[in-house]
Amino acid sequence: MTMLVAKNIILGITGGIAAYKTVDLARKLVQAGASVQCVLTESAAQFVSPLALQAVTGLAVRSALFDTDAEAAMGHIELARWADILLIAPATANTLAKLAHGLADDLLATLALATKAELVIAPAMNGDMWRHPATQTNLALLQQRGARLIEPASGSLACGEVDVGRMQEPQDIVNALAQSQPEPILAGKRVLITAGPTFEDIDPVRFIGNRSSGKMGYALAQAARDMGAEVVLISGPTALPDPQGINTIRVRSALQMLQVVQSHFTGTDFMVAAAAVADYRVERIASNKLKKQGDGGLTLNLVQNQDIVAWAAEQPNRGKVIAFAAETDDVLANAQAKLVRKGVDAVLANSVANGAAFEQDMNHLWLITPQQQQDLGIATKQHLAFVIWQMLSGQRS
Ligand SMILES: Cc1cc2nc3c(=O)[nH]c(=O)nc-3n(C[C@H](O)[C@H](O)[C@H](O)COP(=O)(O)O)c2cc1C
Repeated sequence: MTMLVAKNIILGITGGIAAYKTVDLARKLVQAGASVQCVLTESAAQFVSPLALQAVTGLAVRSALFDTDAEAAMGHIELARWADILLIAPATANTLAKLAHGLADDLLATLALATKAELVIAPAMNGDMWRHPATQTNLALLQQRGARLIEPASGSLACGEVDVGRMQEPQDIVNALAQSQPEPILAGKRVLITAGPTFEDIDPVRFIGNRSSGKMGYALAQAARDMGAEVVLISGPTALPDPQGINTIRVRSALQMLQVVQSHFTGTDFMVAAAAVADYRVERIASNKLKKQGDGGLTLNLVQNQDIVAWAAEQPNRGKVIAFAAETDDVLANAQAKLVRKGVDAVLANSVANGAAFEQDMNHLWLITPQQQQDLGIATKQHLAFVIWQMLSGQRS
């Protein structure tokens, strides 16, 4: 049960009869090593005693959104940021509907919108409520957005029927949570990741950029953090928020990215260069906006940027350096050549032909090392990130 040690869990309890089981659930989560903050909906307080929950968790139960004392101690946004996991058990049909549609009319629903923590839901309700298309559509929406479902079990329900809709037993919920937590195989390791595009300015309003969204690099950074690493993420301009618990440094150009990598490289165990760095920059950035000149074309003089990965690979006593290869053709042959040319330990190759990989949530990657060439398959960038770290740290072959 070590997987929940030091995990911060918000246990959201909603107004179903199964709420009476949550004192036991909270106690088991605490025994598994987690810090547990219970948040009750108004209806939940009809079914379970806040005092009992406070006694087993050691933390006063939160319920009201507009609670001046609680807000002064730990505001709801702070609480949302504190959490690693938001577990809603039992989850009523009503709360599932609110979450699916982004309502924020009580503390729990507001936290669900404000947190970046993993959302895990353990629904419990009458069988007809469970089968209702509205409930099933809401669930599907939540799952599409990444929520994890702990399916209700079949058995005798509070309404007297034997049907599907019972909340899973507290121990089964704790086991399901613990099993899904990544093992801390990168504990004590320092990881440096570059992500996103670089922008090479032409003048004060124009730049040369590329289509990298940063999603793969951010997924790698988050997975490394979840596996226990200390992570520095050096990101080009992206629309993604800074991930929690990661030292994120924003840069714009390839030159800035190189400088920040150089100042953070020493002592790095793994550097993964997922950024799409411009090979060239404009030789002289115009200080004023360039005006259209007659009917002719415009020539920009470009000079080569220093290769960040090659610089890293040349450093003495370095950790592992892993490059990405985004290719439109001959993906594997080009990635093999890059492995040798840059002197890196591995290349993660993907095809970017026909818009694949860039800006997408899914990717198809190959891991290429001097010893092997392995197809990691098509999966979400989050899943691939976990597989990559397992392989790079020798936990998976
Ligand atoms: C005795 C009783 C038991 C209930 N059990 C459930 C249940 O197991 N699941 C459910 O979805 N709703 C159940 N409800 C209905 C919810 O309490 C109701 O939809 C409420 O608005 C839920 O609010 P909440 O989602 O904010 O907690 C029950 C209601 C009563 C009166």
